[in-house]
Amino acid sequence: MTKSHMSKFYKLSITDRIIELEKLGWLSPKDANKLKLGHHIITNEVADKMIENTLGIFGLPLSVAPNFIINDRECIVPIVVEEPSVVAGLSQAALMARATNGFKANLSESFLTGQIHIINVKNIESTIINLKKECSNLIEKANEIHPRLNARGGGVRNIEFKILNLRDKTSVISVHMLVDTCDAMGANLVNTICESMAPTLEKISGGKAILKILSNFLDHSVCSSTVIYNTDSLGNSSISGEEVRDLIILANQIATFDVHRAVTSNKGIMNGIDAVAIATGNDWRAIEASIHAYAARNGQYSTLTKWSSSSNGNLKGEIKIPIKPGIVGGSLLLNPAASLGLKLCGIETAKQLAEMMASVGIAQNFAALRALVTDGIQKGHMRLHARSVASLVKTPNHFFDDVVKRLVKSDEIKQAIKEQLKTKESVNIPELVNTIDMNYEN
Ligand code: MEV
Repeated sequence: MTKSHMSKFYKLSITDRIIELEKLGWLSPKDANKLKLGHHIITNEVADKMIENTLGIFGLPLSVAPNFIINDRECIVPIVVEEPSVVAGLSQAALMARATNGFKANLSESFLTGQIHIINVKNIESTIINLKKECSNLIEKANEIHPRLNARGGGVRNIEFKILNLRDKTSVISVHMLVDTCDAMGANLVNTICESMAPTLEKISGGKAILKILSNFLDHSVCSSTVIYNTDSLGNSSISGEEVRDLIILANQIATFDVHRAVTSNKGIMNGIDAVAIATGNDWRAIEASIHAYAARNGQYSTLTKWSSSSNGNLKGEIKIPIKPGIVGGSLLLNPAASLGLKLCGIETAKQLAEMMASVGIAQNFAALRALVTDGIQKGHMRLHARSVASLVKTPNHFFDDVVKRLVKSDEIKQAIKEQLKTKESVNIPELVNTIDMNYEN
């Protein structure tokens, strides 16, 4: 099995990282070459066919977070994100979890719900009884719509009928078709099923189907991931492992009750999940909508994770997210970068991708909470800010790390930013750099 553990990977140049991934078997020679030449990016012509009024291509960094073990499988995680610290946090969280065999994730069922809303039904209760009687015929009919989906082992598995009582005292029947879409996210498949089934449902109910579309709330595709961190590994020179464990548990409890904190905590979780979604060509807006709705499922928006002390005093983290990514169809057909992202993580099924995303979510939450309860988030950010400063003034590569180190150590960057923020709305980087001693010759 190819090892995902890579030490000092971040120190390599981009080309050397690609070479290393090829050497380790994470990239085929063909894909490595594509990456080196930038041929994984869609062309203007393709972009013009994807959406309307295209002007060009918008870039974001493509990266990988190494060190992951998910369900005993070594894996590296493709990441597309503009925010510094996300990749570093994930890699570190995955590295620390290796001591306890990584993440155990599980997606036990995965159905996409198609909804048909029927209005103007005369007798709702008796109509529901009639619809229920017809249920197996309806499933059979629905499964004739996509014979290829059935051939792949998917199809409509169940139909649920719900009554919605609206403010104006009228009632609506909401028909839920639960569809196994196999390795596709399945939005188009399910929308076609909904539209095709609407006339039959109208006939049985005597009503009118006004909405015929999937629901992005994936409550029939809830994926979990669990991780244990050795308490001994959590501390640093100024704080013990036990203290960090207890502070993480406390911070998590705060996020359970405080909606302002819960949103920030979940935003951190989504830093990782969205980054994988984009890297693998998945619809991150759908993923966001589903997960935030789930976070509020009990009537109050709350955190998606639960941190506790395990029976032997270690730190245990759990996450549950409703998610149904695809590994076939959609933008994957058109976007070579998304196919490359999928190949990088070496997954073979959509289930594995969901389990990877849930594991990334809990890893990201761990990284954020550990940073917050120990050094605070700004220390790491200062370092990354120093990197941006050094890169903006075009510091030559051979001086780069040294300049960054000195910028961070000198504390001047912090002071200079503070000074600038006192007087200006935003930071002027070249001016800021002028205020810092950059004589790296000595
Ligand atoms: C920043 O993008 C994410 C964090 O705010 C998450 C958190 O506070 O848990 C650091």
